[in-house]
Amino acid sequence: MSDLQSILREPRYDLVKMPTPLQRLSGFERKLGRSGLYAKRDDLMEIGLGGNKLRSLEFWLGAALQQRADIVLVAGGATSNLCRLTAAAASMAGLDCLIIHNAADNPANREGSFLNRLFGAQTRFIGPVGEDERGAATKAAAAELTQQGRVPYIVGDAVLGALGYVLAAFELHEQSQRESVPLRHVFLAGSMGPTEAGFIFGNAMLGHPFQVHLVSVEYEQAELEARLQRIYDGIAQRTGLSVGGLDRAPLHYHMDHLGGGWGVPTPEAEAAIVAFARTEGILVEHVYTAKTCAGFLDLVASGGIPADEPACIIHTGGTASLFSQREQFRTVS
Ligand SMILES: Cc1ncc(COP(=O)(O)O)c(C=O)c1O
Repeated sequence: MSDLQSILREPRYDLVKMPTPLQRLSGFERKLGRSGLYAKRDDLMEIGLGGNKLRSLEFWLGAALQQRADIVLVAGGATSNLCRLTAAAASMAGLDCLIIHNAADNPANREGSFLNRLFGAQTRFIGPVGEDERGAATKAAAAELTQQGRVPYIVGDAVLGALGYVLAAFELHEQSQRESVPLRHVFLAGSMGPTEAGFIFGNAMLGHPFQVHLVSVEYEQAELEARLQRIYDGIAQRTGLSVGGLDRAPLHYHMDHLGGGWGVPTPEAEAAIVAFARTEGILVEHVYTAKTCAGFLDLVASGGIPADEPACIIHTGGTASLFSQREQFRTVS
């Protein structure tokens, strides 16, 4: 536990009541004729409909407050979970929030980002530009604010944000021991990396109790690996901890659910959404969690995960987006 001190001394703004529930998926256990299936419910948090980004925001807002910022800036799509949760958390911390949406200013996108304005954020639509241009626009907006005498903080440092999931690995490990659940396999969405890299680093600090399965929802494997490597090395550098290289981590990449790429639905993802809703009463959405759930169900049903090895999917939230995805469904009207 003492290794954790280098992380725990980072400033943190308290947002998440930990631990989030570790829920037994008894409906799937019955259906699949096996036991040992769980969901870690990071979608069940008190703020803004919950989700993985709140764990990162504890560190980002901690840093913003330490730097005496009075406004946070964040960038993302119209229905971005990061943007929504930043708006919610900033309002709690008494900080203003400016959101740069890399999306067209049209009624559908305004509706998608409605919750951000409900949380009191100001939203700016800069058109459907890529990640680099969005980053540049955010920096320019911050510079403008500085000139006006404000103290801006840009949310999103991947290494700092990953620390939230280093702690989550410890939380899940402690919880599984306390609840006598000998968890062996943990499933996560493979995306931009902070959540996964943080969890993998925490797992390494613990001596690798978990086999980590990443179901890619955004990038081809080489790009996902490169992102994880950068963040993983960044965590080692920031914390001064040496836990062995990423190449030594028990890590499994699952690329067969990526389909047409980020945000493009697949029939298997839709089937997983329906199965989770109708078997467990759990809502998952298309962009991040549905493909991850599809990968999880695939492996547990096919015997890819041995029946005597308990497995857990981390539900990272994003549920609010489901309400703007109705037209993407083919089997539910
Ligand atoms: C609901 C949800 N799950 C998973 C992810 C992926 O997390 P990361 O960007 O840390 O890879 C995101 C990212 O926005 C998300 O919103």
